[in-house]
Amino acid sequence: MCGIVGYIGTGAVQNILLNGLKNLEYRGYDSAGLALNDNAGIKVYKASGKLNNLVDLLSHKNNTANTFKGIGHIRWATHGKPTVENAHPHLSNDEKIVLVHNGIIENYQELKDKLQAKGYTFHSKTDTETAVLLIEDEYKQTKNLEQAVINAVKQLKGAFAFCIMHQDEPDKIIAVRNHAPLILGQGHSGNFIASDIPALIGQASQSIYLDDRELAIVTQNNITIKTFEGAVKIKPMTLIDMKAESISRRGYPHFMLKEIMEQPDIMRNLLSSSLSAKDAPITFSGLDADKLFSHVTKLEIIACGTSLNAARVAKALFERLCRLPVEVTAASEYIYKTNLTDENTLCIGISQSGETADTITAVRQAKEAGAKVLVLTNRANSSIIRYADASLPLMAGIEISVAATKSYTAQLMVLYLLAVMLAEKSNKITPAYAETIKNTLLTLPALTEQVLDLSEQAKALAAKYKNATDFIYMARGINLATAAEGALKLKEISYINAVDYAAGELKHGPIALLDENMPVLAVLPKDSVVFSKVLSNCEEAKARRAPLIALTTESAVLPENIFDDIIRLPDAPELVTPMLCAPFLQLFAYETACALGREVDQPRNLAKSVTVE
Ligand code: F6R
Repeated sequence: MCGIVGYIGTGAVQNILLNGLKNLEYRGYDSAGLALNDNAGIKVYKASGKLNNLVDLLSHKNNTANTFKGIGHIRWATHGKPTVENAHPHLSNDEKIVLVHNGIIENYQELKDKLQAKGYTFHSKTDTETAVLLIEDEYKQTKNLEQAVINAVKQLKGAFAFCIMHQDEPDKIIAVRNHAPLILGQGHSGNFIASDIPALIGQASQSIYLDDRELAIVTQNNITIKTFEGAVKIKPMTLIDMKAESISRRGYPHFMLKEIMEQPDIMRNLLSSSLSAKDAPITFSGLDADKLFSHVTKLEIIACGTSLNAARVAKALFERLCRLPVEVTAASEYIYKTNLTDENTLCIGISQSGETADTITAVRQAKEAGAKVLVLTNRANSSIIRYADASLPLMAGIEISVAATKSYTAQLMVLYLLAVMLAEKSNKITPAYAETIKNTLLTLPALTEQVLDLSEQAKALAAKYKNATDFIYMARGINLATAAEGALKLKEISYINAVDYAAGELKHGPIALLDENMPVLAVLPKDSVVFSKVLSNCEEAKARRAPLIALTTESAVLPENIFDDIIRLPDAPELVTPMLCAPFLQLFAYETACALGREVDQPRNLAKSVTVE
């Protein structure tokens, strides 16, 4: 959600910044901009729309010689439309200070009123411009960029990561972090600043993560980190171990397809690090499970979007296997609910990026209320880790496509392992049953490969239904979350209005929507205890002429002439069917989006890593 970069050094500044932004494009693509500093001063270039528009604009300019530093931005619009005026970098009124921002300044209106009263002119509708003008105002007194920045940021409320340059202090870029991620990189040609590691790949070899309320004075040869109070912080550099290959499509037409296809291997990795054999105990390296789970009488799982759907599966698992009450809350709603969190609560925060502002806020509040916090994330150094008593990695590798796929099944796998481990430790399941489930988990990578072999069927289904304007996904029990996740995937990348319902709820209202133009996809794996009930709901839907798709399993016996299309996944115990249904539904959404010519990896209005509340 907005990406910022900065570079000072002897390398090709413009190219380095554009490459960095390219690798951060998953964070937003409403507009892009660069500010470049050469011997003649600072020049700003901005374009609305995707980064390519900025690249086109710059191809007509000659900026490569003598440029020694610069900052850049890609935007996911919050305040103000995605126009050139609202694109970053933003300039001070004297055009000497330039700034890029990721986050939201909550008290911008109040500050804007004060600055306007002092005679400052605003050229954009953004909250960001307030920050650059406030720094300009402070600079008038201090004549020192670092001090002006410190004075200004102390007046800001909200989340912000900034890169700031001043024409009269050409030797430095100032980087600031408060509740929005920011990383500093060191390479042979100079020093770097970025919202996320992919922007540094191939350029910097080492990195430092800034913490909240810290700023860095970055010169070509030096990085000095200070707190907002001015105290110098010494932080060790760590090696950047992400490879360029991990951010390439590796021959696939889209990152989404590549990431879908990676799922069996990710499952294998997760299994091999936690479960060596069906009769072996489940362990997570570095996790003191006995300590974490002692005195826990209830679980509270907090997440957003796809991660929230993983949480819904987890609720069914932990309740069924561990007999523990589980509450699942959308992180954005957590602050509004009556808080029953206490020291006997284990709060599990799930976030692929580890940077989702809603989830971070909710997890922090749960911790403040006394809960122990366990975090599941795919990004080991992400912000959410700071609030965790313990964390478990998803080991899915970087996920670039905005639609989450491999991180979802990785989350599920970790949650399955965790639930079985806890159930075993607390003697809530028999050793024989534990062994059966573990054995099933060990078969999942191979079964998932069989699901992914159905891509031609997904394509044919997509071709048939791509012109639907609406879609209903229905299920019961543990696969309610599967229906929700399938519908979420379809709507976010194909823009078809897909809605998930508990199958039994259809007759209480939504059935009024059904006719020959409303396809219904029913999730009904055979072993399911709810199989026959979902089947009855399918009959009801067919009686209203809805085109009907069954997502079922190989040995399921279905009545003749009800279903227009039947997709058969490999047979598996009902408990693990969410793991097998999800990859097929991902493929179906992917193929539908492709058939409609959508921008699969960068769907409109969305961004990965939602760093605003
Ligand atoms: C959907 C999707 C989003 C994210 C949500 C939470 O495909 O990607 O719904 O799941 O924004 O993101 P994380 O898991 O990073 O907290």
